[in-house]
Amino acid sequence: SLSQSEIRIDPHRRMGAIDRKIYSGFLEHLGRCIYGGIVDYDNPDNDLITKEGYRKDVAKALKALDIPVIRWPGGNFVSSYHWQDGIGPKESRPRRPELAWLNEELNLFGTDEFLHWCGWMKIEPYLCLNMGTGTLDEALAWIEYCNSNLNTYWANLRRINGRDEPYNVKYWSLGNEVWGPWQVGQMNEEDYCKKAIQWAKAIKLLDPSVILVSCGCTGFSKWDYEITQKLFRYVDFHSIHLYTSDSKDQMKNITGPAAAEAGIQITAKLLDLAKITNYSSSISNSVAATEDLKFKQHRVKICFDEWNVWDPVRAGGEVGCEEKYTLGDALAVSSWLNTFIRQAEYIGMANIAQCVNVIAPIMTKQDKLFLQTTYHPLRLFSQKMRGESLNLHVKTPLYKGDTRGGNMNIEWLKDIDSNICMLDCSAAIYDKNIIVAVVNRSLTEDTTTKISLSVDPKNVNPNVNRCVIYNEDINAINTFDEPENVTVSESIIFLNFIPLNGESNATILFKKHSFTLLEIQLL
Ligand code: AHR
Repeated sequence: SLSQSEIRIDPHRRMGAIDRKIYSGFLEHLGRCIYGGIVDYDNPDNDLITKEGYRKDVAKALKALDIPVIRWPGGNFVSSYHWQDGIGPKESRPRRPELAWLNEELNLFGTDEFLHWCGWMKIEPYLCLNMGTGTLDEALAWIEYCNSNLNTYWANLRRINGRDEPYNVKYWSLGNEVWGPWQVGQMNEEDYCKKAIQWAKAIKLLDPSVILVSCGCTGFSKWDYEITQKLFRYVDFHSIHLYTSDSKDQMKNITGPAAAEAGIQITAKLLDLAKITNYSSSISNSVAATEDLKFKQHRVKICFDEWNVWDPVRAGGEVGCEEKYTLGDALAVSSWLNTFIRQAEYIGMANIAQCVNVIAPIMTKQDKLFLQTTYHPLRLFSQKMRGESLNLHVKTPLYKGDTRGGNMNIEWLKDIDSNICMLDCSAAIYDKNIIVAVVNRSLTEDTTTKISLSVDPKNVNPNVNRCVIYNEDINAINTFDEPENVTVSESIIFLNFIPLNGESNATILFKKHSFTLLEIQLL
């Protein structure tokens, strides 16, 4: 069946610059993400592998995603990771029990390997500090090893290990999900703040140029409230994590990205509040005027450093992470990305968790890979959706499918569940291109949609580039044998723009359960 919608686009209604770091990634020592995904040390003679052991096919697929920053080495893994185990001659590196996923860590891929790989890939590294079993001394040593130019012990050890120049790792986070009961070294808000402030002060003394990320939760929890208020002065980013899936205890794919959007908006307000309260307390404490001036300009942005579709029950592999993503999941990823574009003003970084094999858009076996359904919206957004985010006006029917269960039993989120729209849209303007992304969530209805652009038709190129992700079956997946069940079809379409009161109006059809990206050129 067919329904009707409208998308109004005004190129002047700009909401904020899109930070390209929203297309960042994450690699964890978990399952086959690093060993078998990023590197293969077992098949050195294979043409697919570089002399350093890097998989060239994975590198190529990641390159096409144009990833600006990659977070490493965890995740939960980091809470019992000692970075010093992973440097120096490989034959003397210890093999250790690993407490997050109850695995054995080989330590063959360590700091120098990761940072060398990042250099080769032209991706900026983002390291997560161990606030579980790790000490402040160890964290400072890691930063000195990576970034210091001094004639001191750890900087010299880096030189001995073959790297003269500092790596200058900018992004560091103060622990991962330290609030979680699954975490080695779980903490409450008070303990975390105390510890994180000590660490942040010492780290900034050692290297004032580092950008610090505080450990957040969903963005709408008491944890986020406490941490943003207390750590505001000491950090540059506050992190949030959220996964969606249609398994029972999680945010549903249909409603989860909207809950994440609420999390972003709430966190943005918490950060505003923190600025007000921290500023007034600094006045009453009569902190030096220069400090206050510096603080006035201090802005903490959101770093959504784990997000994706993940259903640990459905996913296979040893650790419950080898997802086989459906078209429905690709639509959820598209909605996640729409969310980041709409909230561009507040988001300084977002990292899809993760990049290869583990909850990932790329799946490998020994000498082959395929691109999962979710790879395609990621590539389209990363390559095309840049510039400034536009504030759209969208008229759309409500989504008619099942929206229950996406609320993790949080009462106020139920309002979100009952207001999910059939069309989920975002747009950007980049030079003279307007890029519009549209998910038609409906399982049954195509929709003819009026596109109203507040620009005279003589200034609009009617030949529009259109990319569509669609399959008749919303449960379609890609596999090694059938890698292109769900892929992108790209074509130039003619949009018959009709002038009306100085605007350009055209009609376009969005198929049921599809993703469409339009590139409209202004002349
Ligand atoms: O990405 C998988 C895991 O999910 C990460 O290790 C952890 O931070 C989160 O709970």
